[in-house]
Amino acid sequence: MKKTQHITTVLEYTSIEEFDSINQKLISKAKEATQSSYSPYSKFKVGAAILLENGEIIQGSNQENSAYPSGLCAERVAMFYANSKYPDVPVKSIAIACFNNGQFLDRPIPPCGSCRQVLLETEERHNTPMRVFLYGQKQIFEIENIKQLLPLYFEKDMLDE
Ligand code: THU
Repeated sequence: MKKTQHITTVLEYTSIEEFDSINQKLISKAKEATQSSYSPYSKFKVGAAILLENGEIIQGSNQENSAYPSGLCAERVAMFYANSKYPDVPVKSIAIACFNNGQFLDRPIPPCGSCRQVLLETEERHNTPMRVFLYGQKQIFEIENIKQLLPLYFEKDMLDE
C-alpha cells in the first residue's frame, strides 16, 4: 500500500486592493457579469470572467431554464464561448462572483464539479495553468490552477486505454 496526497493551496485575501490592476479588473468583470444572469428560478446570480492570453476578457453568467437541467452555470457559459470564439488561445485565468438577495456573497463560491471538469480540459488542451479567483465580499481565494481544484480527474487520454 502506498499513500499519496493531493494538495490544494489556497491564497486568501481580504480585499480586492491586494491584487494587481489586471486581476482587479478581471474580478470586477466577474462581478459585473452576475447582473446578466438569467436565474428566475434560483435567483442566484453567478458571474464569470475569463482572461485570455491575447488580453481579451470573456464574460458569462448562469442561464436557467424552466426545464431545470437545461440551464448552464456561468463558468461553462463563459468557457465554452471563449473556446468557440478563440479555439487556439490559452486561458490565463478565471474569476467568479455570486450575487444573491441583493448583495455579493461574503464568502467565495467555488465552481461546481461539472464546471471544474470543463475548465480542466481547457487547461489541459492548451497546456497552460488557469489561475482561479473566487470573489467574496469578506474573503477572496486564489488557486494556481484547475488541477488543484479537481484531483484524480477524468482525463481524455483515458478514453484510449
Ligand atoms: N451555478 C453556477 O453558475 N456556477 C456554479 O459553479 C454553481 C451553480 C448556478 C447554477 C444555477 O443557475 C444556480 O447557480 C443555482 O445552483
